[in-house]
Amino acid sequence: MNLDYQTEGARVSTIHHAVRREHAEPEAGDEPVRFVWLLIGAALLIAGGGVLGTYSGGFSQDQTYAFAYYSGAGPRPPGANGDDGSAKGPWIDVWMAEGKKVYGNCVACHQAGGSGMAGQFPPLVGSEYVDGGTKRLAAILHKGLMGPITVGGQSFNTPNLMPAWNTLSDEKLAQVATYIRRSFGKLPEGESGVVTTEMMKSAREEFSGLPSPLPTSELAKLDPAAHLPGDQVDLETGDSIGAVPADGEEKKVP
Ligand code: HEC
Repeated sequence: MNLDYQTEGARVSTIHHAVRREHAEPEAGDEPVRFVWLLIGAALLIAGGGVLGTYSGGFSQDQTYAFAYYSGAGPRPPGANGDDGSAKGPWIDVWMAEGKKVYGNCVACHQAGGSGMAGQFPPLVGSEYVDGGTKRLAAILHKGLMGPITVGGQSFNTPNLMPAWNTLSDEKLAQVATYIRRSFGKLPEGESGVVTTEMMKSAREEFSGLPSPLPTSELAKLDPAAHLPGDQVDLETGDSIGAVPADGEEKKVP
C-alpha cells in the first residue's frame, strides 16, 4: 500500500500533533473581564455599604431617623399649640398650611382669594372684621352672623347667613383665623396676626351665652379693637413669648 502522505514524507504522528494544537474557535462573550473593572465594582460596593451603614439608622422603622442625612435636620423639640415637634420648618408655616385646609370650608361663599361675591357674601380682603381685634372675629366664627353689615365700605343686606363654626375644634378655628388674618388682612405694622388655640378656647367660653347666628346688632356691641387673651407665640417655634396686654395692643413681634 502506498499512501500519499507517506510519499510526501509526512508521518501520521506529525499530522496528528498539528491537529491537537488547534484551539476551538473563540465565542463572543467569553473574554476575561479586565481587572480594573473588578476593582471599580468592589470600590462601589464598599462605598455604598458605608453610606447605608452610616445613614440608615440601623434600618429602623422610625422615619425620623432613617436616612436622616438626606431629609435635613433631625426632629425639633416639641413646641406649644399642638406642635408635636415632628414637623419641619418654621411653626408658622405648618400653622398656616393647616389654616388653609380649614379655609376650604369657607371658599364656597368667601372665595379662595377672600374676595367674597358682590352683593351676596362680604369679602375678607380689606375687612375690618378680619384685621381688627381678634375677639370680634372669634365671636363671628363661633356663632355665625346674620343681618345687615358693612364690610370695607360695601353694605350687604341679604338673607344670607354666615353659619356658626363652633363644631370645629378651637385649634382649627385658631388656624383658620390666623390664615385669613395673615393672608387677607391688612395687619397693623409689626402684628403677627397669629391666633392661638388658647385664645380661641377663651372665646368659646366668653361667647357661649350669645345667640347663634349672632345678629349684627349684637356684634356691634363688641369692642372692634379688643384682642383675645392669651400668649403670643414665636413664629419659628410656636412657643409662648408672653401675654398680649389686656388693653388689646399686641406686643410687637420682630
Ligand atoms: C354659606 C356661606 C358662608 C360660608 C361657608 C362662610 N361664610 Fe362667612 N359670611 C357669610 C355671610 C353671608 C356673611 C355676612 C353675614 C351678614 O350679612 O350678617 C359672612 C360674614 C363673615 C365675616 C365677617 C364679615 C367679613 O366679610 O369680614 C367673616 C370674618 C367671615 N364670614 C369668615 C368666614 C370664615 C373664616 C368661614 C369659614 C370657616 C366662613 N366665613 C364661611 C357667609 C359664609
